[in-house]
Amino acid sequence: MTFNSLILIWFDNNQRNLPWRDQSDPYKIWLSEIILQQTRVAQGINYYLNFVATYPQIQDLAAASEQEVLRLWQGLGYYSRARNLHATAQFIVENLDGKFPDNYKDLLKLKGIGPYTAAAIASIAFNETVSAIDGNVFRVFARYFNLHLDISESKTRNYFFELGNKIIDRERPGDFNQAVMELGATVCLPVNPKCELCPVNDSCEARAKKTIQELPIKTKKTKVSHRYFHFMEISDGENYLMTKREGKDVWKNLFTFPLIETSENESLPASFASEFKFEKTHEEIHVLSHQKLNISFWKTKMELGELKRFSEKLDAGVYSLSELDELPLPRPIEKYLNERF
Ligand code: ADE
Repeated sequence: MTFNSLILIWFDNNQRNLPWRDQSDPYKIWLSEIILQQTRVAQGINYYLNFVATYPQIQDLAAASEQEVLRLWQGLGYYSRARNLHATAQFIVENLDGKFPDNYKDLLKLKGIGPYTAAAIASIAFNETVSAIDGNVFRVFARYFNLHLDISESKTRNYFFELGNKIIDRERPGDFNQAVMELGATVCLPVNPKCELCPVNDSCEARAKKTIQELPIKTKKTKVSHRYFHFMEISDGENYLMTKREGKDVWKNLFTFPLIETSENESLPASFASEFKFEKTHEEIHVLSHQKLNISFWKTKMELGELKRFSEKLDAGVYSLSELDELPLPRPIEKYLNERF
């Protein structure tokens, strides 16, 4: 049997039962694919179910506030994905009569939809024979065909895309794409792959040549920058100062305690520490895809009147604990609040 029939039979018998798999609504497939780029399936399911329950149709998502969408996305990270999701829903409702583009080329034009997502939606919802290349697919193809190309180079992506387009199943392109992804996610694992369970192990070239361990090849490591954040929990015991993050930086449009960034692992700058008595309450390292954040939490208390005066100085809002529940918060702030209150 061929690669295609083997992998499709395997998929029919072994695919996970996922809530977005029983329909072909491009809106829901889009939601699931954007969420799954951020997290593993097990965690993604809850976010997906929350999103479709809150916004059953694209019109509902378009009508929501960005803040609400960010709050539902809270914890997934990479918040530009949620902002793009919201902006694209509005674009489709306002300019495309609420109808999703039904082909790869037009899907690619939408904000936040790149080659992977466009191909996933086009193949799963519209049966277009276009290959969806994500990290799992890179690994499966690199091993099955024993390809020693460097996947950190952009031309390699094109090579895999062309290869995928050649071999993709003409009858069931969406299932083919998902079968390859699923194989990568559950069998053809980065370390300790379960080759004995693989439906195409007999014809896997890397297995024959014993190169599975070294594939796929990735030479360039992502550059990570180090940053030092000081969050200040400033309250009267009931109300807290929070600022909304603006500009092109991590956590844009999310809310945090007032933040001071230092260039090294210093203490809180004297200008703040002298005016009020700050006590350090917690320290942690938070790792993002391109940044390693060294986070210190500091705490000080003051009377409500002073809190209000201080809020103007810091351009911050005054929020009660229950109001904090409505705000989209970065994971470290959410965790900090959960652990304390
Ligand atoms: N990972 C991301 N999208 C997926 C899909 N549709 N099927 C399996 N794994 C996935």
